[in-house]
Amino acid sequence: MKYMTTAEIREAYLEYFEAKGCKRMPSSSLIPDDPSLLLTSAGMVQFKPYFLQLKHMEEPYIGATTAQKCVRTNDIDIIGTDGRHLSFFEMMGNFSFGAYFKKEMCAWALDFSVNVLGLPFEKLYFTVFEDDDETIEIWKGLGVNPSHITKLGEDDNFWRAGPTGPCGPCSEIYFDQGEDVGCGRPDCAPGCDCDRFLEYWNLVFTQYDGQEDGSFKPLPKKNIDTGMGLERIAAIMQGVQSNFDTDVLRGLVAVGERVTGKVYGANEADDMALRVMADHARSVTFMIADGILPGNEGREYVLRRLLRRAVMKGNLLGAEGAFMGRFVDQIIEVMGDVYPEIVENRELIHRVVLSEEERFGATLRQGRAYLAEALERLDGDELSGATAFTLHDTYGFPLEVTEEICAERGISVNRGEFDTCMEQQRTRARAATQDDAEAAWSTYDGSMSALLEEIGATEFVGYDSDEASSTVRAIVRDGKRVDALHAGEEGGVVLSETPFYAEMGGQVGDTGTITGPRGAARVTDTKAPEGGLALHYVRITEGALAVGDKVSATIDALRRERIRRNHSATHVLHWALRMVLGDHVKQAGSYVAPDRLRFDFTHFEACTRDQLDEVERIANRKIMENLPVATYETSLDEARAAGVTALFGEKYGDTVRVVDMAGFSRELCGGTHVRQTAEIGLVKITGEQSVGANLRRVEAITSFDALAYLNKVESELRQTAAELKVPLLEVADRAAANVAELKEATGKLKRNKQAVMEGSILENAKSGKQTSAAGYPVYLLKVANLDAGALRNAWDVIRSREGDACAVVLADDNNGKPLLLAAGTDAAVAAGFHAGNLIKQIAPTIRGGGGGKPGMAQAGGKDAAGLDAALSKAREILL
Ligand code: SER
Repeated sequence: MKYMTTAEIREAYLEYFEAKGCKRMPSSSLIPDDPSLLLTSAGMVQFKPYFLQLKHMEEPYIGATTAQKCVRTNDIDIIGTDGRHLSFFEMMGNFSFGAYFKKEMCAWALDFSVNVLGLPFEKLYFTVFEDDDETIEIWKGLGVNPSHITKLGEDDNFWRAGPTGPCGPCSEIYFDQGEDVGCGRPDCAPGCDCDRFLEYWNLVFTQYDGQEDGSFKPLPKKNIDTGMGLERIAAIMQGVQSNFDTDVLRGLVAVGERVTGKVYGANEADDMALRVMADHARSVTFMIADGILPGNEGREYVLRRLLRRAVMKGNLLGAEGAFMGRFVDQIIEVMGDVYPEIVENRELIHRVVLSEEERFGATLRQGRAYLAEALERLDGDELSGATAFTLHDTYGFPLEVTEEICAERGISVNRGEFDTCMEQQRTRARAATQDDAEAAWSTYDGSMSALLEEIGATEFVGYDSDEASSTVRAIVRDGKRVDALHAGEEGGVVLSETPFYAEMGGQVGDTGTITGPRGAARVTDTKAPEGGLALHYVRITEGALAVGDKVSATIDALRRERIRRNHSATHVLHWALRMVLGDHVKQAGSYVAPDRLRFDFTHFEACTRDQLDEVERIANRKIMENLPVATYETSLDEARAAGVTALFGEKYGDTVRVVDMAGFSRELCGGTHVRQTAEIGLVKITGEQSVGANLRRVEAITSFDALAYLNKVESELRQTAAELKVPLLEVADRAAANVAELKEATGKLKRNKQAVMEGSILENAKSGKQTSAAGYPVYLLKVANLDAGALRNAWDVIRSREGDACAVVLADDNNGKPLLLAAGTDAAVAAGFHAGNLIKQIAPTIRGGGGGKPGMAQAGGKDAAGLDAALSKAREILL
């Protein structure tokens, strides 16, 4: 068997299937275009629409072949404990959507294994799904010895990506690593738990579409989905037992060796940590390149957990400072030619990794100390959920990391308690920002869903009109259903149809009036306490409003116009932020009011002024291009297939509304929008700030508000210009010049003061100058009200004047907190002066203590009356 590098195997595979007629396609993103999956975990994920015959392979290809980056996180804890498990791996795949099937696939898999890779035929073993005799016959027909074929059940030989979707029976190919590797049992065969038989290639005969109810619907065509684990086959080809001994991963383990100073293979515990670092670094690098940022939920949390786990391991092995960037560079070096996205995003990956390392690094040590102490105090073998929660909340330890550290000591973590703490925190957070929708709920103590069921959803007619004729369907007041509201009373009104937009998707609710046959009401807000039900908050201004009344409902049209502008502006800004900052920017929240908007998004650092200027510039360009804004309804699947931006984690119905700004921005959105971008007028960003880890917020205003803002800024500038007596556009230069002038003048003043002080010290010093017994000059001085710093300063002044050999003893009453300072030059010390000893001897006279070095010593005391005595004593000693 010849040695092949990982890169050679990858290329040989792709070339082989290209030659068979498959199209070589790029790996798809780790963020699957499939809400049922958190991360791309197999080569077939990007081909689901092809299996379902929703998309078709173009002529003349018979299928596709890929090297797919995959992340699987179902067994993160096991990673590192052996040489097999990986969170990140590459899957070599080839796929047929009705063109070729079992017969061709089995023949090619065998041909590739034996004739391209050169694996000995007799070392290959095959498993097939228990009722799939057809495949057994195919293998036999290809010359496989029946003793090398094992039938296995659904757990092993029926493959599915998730609970639903394309799936089917499979046949797997194993490599026999030899008897000495395994359990040694005579009946050892593929499927055995031991390491002897290594599965390296899975051939799935994708024939079914798994349904929600667990049944299988036959797919229109018979398909092939195969996956060969690149790291596994590399281990076989390179004659090693562990994935971590193959070229690419061993290179990463070596990076770990360098950053920790450990040697791989010397100690099992260290090896495990080095394997974790090598593996996780690849997941982290590729996830960030695909636009995932560390966070607290979903795939963001997976990334944070992997990154922090790797940092923690490195830290435990003694790595200092941030080190993940070194893995990143090595990964880019060896994998960048196949996955250009990691090269293109090098800087982003480095910055995200570093910022997360810094964030975590700052509390890691304290967290570890906290945990160590908690474990020390622990009585029993279970860590409280509250402690794990503090570690999570205060020190940034992912729960799983805490669990892992505890597990090493045989201690478990009370997960239930942890979850309760999390839930309590969420409730607190919710209460803190208790939004009015909940307050609306409280206006009716029956269930809003019952109300919805009883009277049906409110029809929203406000996309096209500002007013509507309608009927009052229900009224609630003080938590009760009532028949009518009377002048002065407040309550919630449900209409059959309404032009009022109920607060949703960040857009605030409408205000306006409802007028009926016997009175009128002011609508102060509109909310949707239950999906589909619009609740108008009203105060009766005149007469009454009763259930059954035919009314005319009119929104404040001008207010809505401003909201429309701001809502469309958030879409434009979203687009512009992605253009300027990158595709990792995702909407995390928004607020659209008549007078302002804010937009929260994922990004890992503060935006620079230049970036914000650029965002503003291109956003305004799109506004001035006066592009049409279209809205239409479509199915969620079609919107997704068309690449419309949806919020991850948001629940959408089957029918969705798309807001399409001439194709440059397309978002799923139920809000109200302008018809042409120029209606926005102008967008002006007024602020940018952090609102959480990797979460930023921009605030902006549009149209007349933007104009008013700019006018205000200009008027301030005008006033300043008048004060400075310069033209408007010279204010900055003049202000800078004034500041510089002021700085210089202040400096001069300070220098003058210093000179005066020095002069007075020297003047004073003259009177206290003596000659010590040893012959060097010594100044014994009483000074007033200098603090300790000024005392040392005085010594510097005297020393610089006196030169080489001199000493001082300064007695300072320091506003009743007496201080003594003794200091001498090196020459004085050489001549026998010892400041520390001197201070020790004289400090008692001021009821103080202190000491120091031969060259400088200080003491503070309680009795300023003793200062003269201190000086006399010094005189006795020195002269
Ligand atoms: N989808 C199958 C697997 O992941 C084969 O590609 O194993």
